Amino acid sequence: MRVLVTGGAGFIGSHFCRVLRRAHPDARIVVLDALTYAGNLRNLEDFEGDGNFAFHPGKIQDRTVVEGLIRCESITHIVDFAAESHNDRSIQNSAEFIETNVLGVYTLLEATRRFRIEKYVHVSTDEVYGSIEAGDFTEESPLEPNTPYSASKAGGDLLVRAYWKAFAVPAVITRGGNTYGPYQYPEKLIPFFATRLLNGKKVPIYGDGTQVREWIHAEDHANGVLEVLEKGQAGEVYNIGDENERQNRQIVEILLEETGRTWDLVKSIPDPRRNAHDRRYSMSAAKLRNLGWRPEKTFEEEIRRTVRWYAERRDWWEPIVRSEDYQSFVRAYYGPSLGEDL
Ligand SMILES: NC(=O)c1ccc[n+]([C@@H]2O[C@H](COP(=O)([O-])OP(=O)(O)OC[C@H]3O[C@@H](n4cnc5c(N)ncnc54)[C@H](O)[C@@H]3O)[C@@H](O)[C@H]2O)c1
Repeated sequence: MRVLVTGGAGFIGSHFCRVLRRAHPDARIVVLDALTYAGNLRNLEDFEGDGNFAFHPGKIQDRTVVEGLIRCESITHIVDFAAESHNDRSIQNSAEFIETNVLGVYTLLEATRRFRIEKYVHVSTDEVYGSIEAGDFTEESPLEPNTPYSASKAGGDLLVRAYWKAFAVPAVITRGGNTYGPYQYPEKLIPFFATRLLNGKKVPIYGDGTQVREWIHAEDHANGVLEVLEKGQAGEVYNIGDENERQNRQIVEILLEETGRTWDLVKSIPDPRRNAHDRRYSMSAAKLRNLGWRPEKTFEEEIRRTVRWYAERRDWWEPIVRSEDYQSFVRAYYGPSLGEDL
């Protein structure tokens, strides 16, 4: 197996590379990553000295790069994690979301077709379903995205479906839940709060914090993607979820406990997404479980372990939070509500 992992220098993509290496010691792993603000070669530090691993910088929407790499590396499988992935940023500016999450997927699908790739796994998100008051989304639920991010991901999903229908491209979609674990860029809820609380800084919570999210550990998510790469049927969609729902407030409570801080550091702010902030995500992963996959991580234990990882790996995140990109995002997005405490 010679696997092109796009976005492999990001959070879940790098976990996937490790999971793939453990399961397939002989696989050739080729990462294509544009190294945007979210990409970080240090996420791939475990691959130093691995002769069967290669990293190539480049964008998935660049046809010359994608096709050149597939040809010269004799790629047989593609797993696509490359994306603009942060909802809040898509509210500020969505152009790059459309370019990567729609045009990029189109470019990979065209390459899959032209080069007769054996399987293409498109990594998507439960956010394409929108919000659900009660019950669970299944793979048959309608797509009702509510932000430019989730709409761009849904656009990619629809292209995958069309390429399967029109050209029998052997493509599969995964839709994962909110993911947490080490190596997550500190703009997403858990690492954003953990790193700020470790530094004794205020954290912003939208409204009353009763929004419900379903959480899954990055390694469980990555194992689910691997299961689909190995056993998923072309043309199918597989949800990857842990049935592990928590209100944002409950997450914050754990983060405060684990960092030794109290609620006076938590500031309720108005939600800049207005009506687009989904109240609840929840989905059934029964279809993937039927293939044999099971999540292995226990949330209570692993979220605490994740906070401890951030406490120990300041060398990983301090350069990020000092970077101009991170600072300007936090200033623009949270500055008005957090005031001076950035
Ligand atoms: N993080 C979550 O909670 C979550 C949940 C469900 C699904 N997903 C999906 O999983 C995938 C990975 O998410 P993540 O959290 O690891 O994201 P991430 O932002 O940590 O990583 C994305 C990676 O893609 C790279 N990239 C961005 N644009 C690119 C381009 N045009 N060409 C090549 N590389 C590019 C970045 O440099 C980065 O390394 C995404 O498709 C996302 O939609 C994420």
